[in-house]
Amino acid sequence: MTRPRVVVTGRIPEPGLDLLREVGDVWAWTSDEVIPTEIRDEQLASAEYAVTLLTDRVDQAFLDAAPALRMVANVAVGYNNIDVPACRARGVTVTNTPGVLTDATADLAMALVLMVTRRLGEGERLIRSETPWQWGMFMMLGTGLQGRRLGIVGMGAIGVALADRARAFGMEIAYHNRSAVAPEVAERLGAIRLDLDELLATSDVVSLNCPYSEATHHLIDADALGKMREDAFLVNTARGPIVDEAALAVALRDGVIAGAALDVFEREPAVEQGLLGLDNAVLVPHLGSATIETRTAMATLAARNVVAVIGGNDPITPV
Ligand code: GLV
Repeated sequence: MTRPRVVVTGRIPEPGLDLLREVGDVWAWTSDEVIPTEIRDEQLASAEYAVTLLTDRVDQAFLDAAPALRMVANVAVGYNNIDVPACRARGVTVTNTPGVLTDATADLAMALVLMVTRRLGEGERLIRSETPWQWGMFMMLGTGLQGRRLGIVGMGAIGVALADRARAFGMEIAYHNRSAVAPEVAERLGAIRLDLDELLATSDVVSLNCPYSEATHHLIDADALGKMREDAFLVNTARGPIVDEAALAVALRDGVIAGAALDVFEREPAVEQGLLGLDNAVLVPHLGSATIETRTAMATLAARNVVAVIGGNDPITPV
């Protein structure tokens, strides 16, 4: 019996590939570079199942190149790289990888909260530039977190996991979300639900943990930044285009807010030039889920979704 053809468009951890090889005829791109479109399309021509990364745009052109496609398993929780309605219209099932990256991403968000409030990137740059320095009572003072308010925009699993971490640092939790969190979660966190304007106006640190969609495009623009406090910080581990990056650079330069830490960028991998020279901007290259354990779990969950569907079962984590 011929086995279904599975095309993996980016390099993923071996355990994911091993699972796929048990059920399919697997072709996988093996480089860390983004796959060139010609090679991708050549492979997609006979693909029934595609395993994709967030750097793949699964749009009409992708689908046109893959007339036999039945499923796209994205190795990411975010799926704004996929035109889901177009997939649905062609009967293509879409899955993502929720849950397995919650802790890693919340850890990174908390790390960024600490980095930006304690000026750690600036300190690193000082030492690496071999600038003379010595301990000083007033040297590079930051902001403590105890008793400060963390305002979380998007209170899904990652938002809640970040709130748990921030509570351990003595922060108060406010959040903005379409729906309220379960009462026992709100109680455990002591969390209050606010509208966006009030959250922006009253938080010491604002963390973005919502999905990216048309509704959240430039949610944080010049106007929203202007509603934040001058001594407040912004952290983004969600998706770059939720923030108007050019407006953020201006706000950081002009002291509209005190600092920002970004793991994601509007035109990734490009970064707004105006941010690069600013000491109050912490910039890291989309590392939210970047642990060996988490990336392996993401790859195997994506593969298990494919295995389920090939076996005639429902996908485990459909979009
Ligand atoms: C990473 O950004 C993800 O969405 O999994």
